[in-house]
Amino acid sequence: MKRELGVCYYPEHWGEAVWEEDAARMKSLGLSWVRIGEFAWSRIEPKPGAFNFEWLDRAIDVLGAAGLKVVMSTPTATPPRWMVQKYPDMLALDEAGQPRRFGSRRHYCFSHLPYRDECRRIARALGERYGNNPHIQAWQLDNEYGCHDTTLSYSPHAEAGFRAWLKEKYGTLGALNAAWGNVFWSMEYATFKGIGLPNQTVTEPNPAHMMAFRRYSSDQVAAFNRAQADVLKSYTSVPLIHNYMGRITEFDHFDVAADLDIASWDSYPLGFLWDRIDTTEVHRKRFLRQGDPDFQAFHHDLYRAVGDGRWWVMEQQPGPVNWAPYNPAPLTGMARLWAWEAYAHGAETVCYFRWRQAPFAQEQMHSGLLRPDGKPAPAFAEVEHLSEELALLPDVAPHQADVAIVFDYPSCWAWEVQPQGADFHYFRLVYEQYRAARSLGLSIDFVQSWSPQIPTYKLLLVPGLMTMPAILRDMLAQFEGTSLIGPRTNSKTTEFSIPTPLPPDLPGLDCTVEFVESLPPNVKYQLEGGGAFRHWAERLTGEAEVALTRHDGAPAVMSSGNMHYVGGWPDREGWERLIASACEAQGIATVRLPEGVRIRETGRHRFAFNYNSTAVTLDGVRIPAAGVHWEDL
Ligand code: GAL
Repeated sequence: MKRELGVCYYPEHWGEAVWEEDAARMKSLGLSWVRIGEFAWSRIEPKPGAFNFEWLDRAIDVLGAAGLKVVMSTPTATPPRWMVQKYPDMLALDEAGQPRRFGSRRHYCFSHLPYRDECRRIARALGERYGNNPHIQAWQLDNEYGCHDTTLSYSPHAEAGFRAWLKEKYGTLGALNAAWGNVFWSMEYATFKGIGLPNQTVTEPNPAHMMAFRRYSSDQVAAFNRAQADVLKSYTSVPLIHNYMGRITEFDHFDVAADLDIASWDSYPLGFLWDRIDTTEVHRKRFLRQGDPDFQAFHHDLYRAVGDGRWWVMEQQPGPVNWAPYNPAPLTGMARLWAWEAYAHGAETVCYFRWRQAPFAQEQMHSGLLRPDGKPAPAFAEVEHLSEELALLPDVAPHQADVAIVFDYPSCWAWEVQPQGADFHYFRLVYEQYRAARSLGLSIDFVQSWSPQIPTYKLLLVPGLMTMPAILRDMLAQFEGTSLIGPRTNSKTTEFSIPTPLPPDLPGLDCTVEFVESLPPNVKYQLEGGGAFRHWAERLTGEAEVALTRHDGAPAVMSSGNMHYVGGWPDREGWERLIASACEAQGIATVRLPEGVRIRETGRHRFAFNYNSTAVTLDGVRIPAAGVHWEDL
């Protein structure tokens, strides 16, 4: 498959006079795709039921006639003013019970069923009109579910929906009270109507109650998406896509993806450095104009799994953005590097956000490929160069990595519900492990905890998995590769209680977590031979072999053959040691890469990316600042 380029375009922001010229310029820049329509509801349906499609018909014609493929979107992330007047109770309520008001976007509550019907209705209207339009080669549903903290809503609609969901799940109040342990603090319920949402309690609510609400809320995102997907599927057979965001974990992306054909995500490396990554000022300064060297790759790998192999970057940062606390310009070369990195991780298409910088409204300070006056912005030339390179390069062949990490959204909710220590974040735990593995030159896949692919990997990492499904336990019992499991893995039942036998309860491994400790910053347990546990440490007992010991003599890792349980949160050196020795056992080559340099292997090439602002030499090859190098395997 040829890798492609695209751009996000808002015909409704510009006079029709420029559409033709814009389309011709996109085409001559080497772009294949143009995404439109995701915020255009007030222009498509200015009044309830009164559609105005003519302008959109013309826009699609102009873009299509220029030879561009259109991604048409449903505009449901931006319900217009009349919609909110029609349904004042469709607004999401925050944890304090305050409405998230009209005047920006994503102001709807996922549990509001009349709004969900309105979304079906607009999807139907669009499907009827454009389902067979030959220029439309893909659809995007809504825009960035969950962004701006919008998955959870504490509205009366959410409360009613939650009660119905509980009734369906537990059947009886006896079962619910027993599952949650409501005898504790006299929290037993006598009616489903008596169950409220877990906000505004005096001290923490029952974690089982909170976990159930998190599962319910995630299900609503999937159901909301499914409502539109089902409608569109009856009008079109081209792929359906959603654009996910970076480090949004409040809903299970795998569940949403089950109704779609392609996963995509919106990559803003310089903004994410400030608001999505737990790191130091020194690190931020070093990568200020490049972004964190692992954050983009992490999401590329995760969304490749979410899309079951098919994924895009739907929005790629081209220059300074407007929304982070500080918005520097990317180093020259980064707009090209970010795209190459996406292709190396398997992206089919990379679309830049946006074509022309808007001179008005919230994002007037957000750059595009063109300046507000229509002249090229700095990224334009990079994209020009990139499209020439893409035409020359042989295809980027898909490739299964040797190493897989289990990623599980409910585990993220579980450790938010009851972190047991201020620094315990699931995302952070997985991310640090991923970073350590990548700094050893490894390519990585993500898998779900029950994936039938698991036995085909040589090294399996299972950090912080709340509950181990029986199928994974069985696969581990037979696993021929090496597994590194923990910390905190299999430490709760699905109903959020401590299981018996006590964790980790792994097949053939006589090891028990007797108690756990969370640690404040700067308190560490040093490990024999280097590295330390921080944030979290477990007291391991049992007859299994002690493969690594802490300085205080307590077991740090206990093992049986190639299965290892890690009883703490290793620092960078700790993870690197553990992963390197697991790789050695499996004959997987590792290399200590220079800081800011990362490798990704595809079926035919080894790509190297230099995120530094200075050149580096890798295996005798000089890679310039913000440079990409590839060689045949
Ligand atoms: C994305 C969003 C776009 C635009 C962009 C700005 O999160 O999907 O509509 O707001 O951010 O960086």
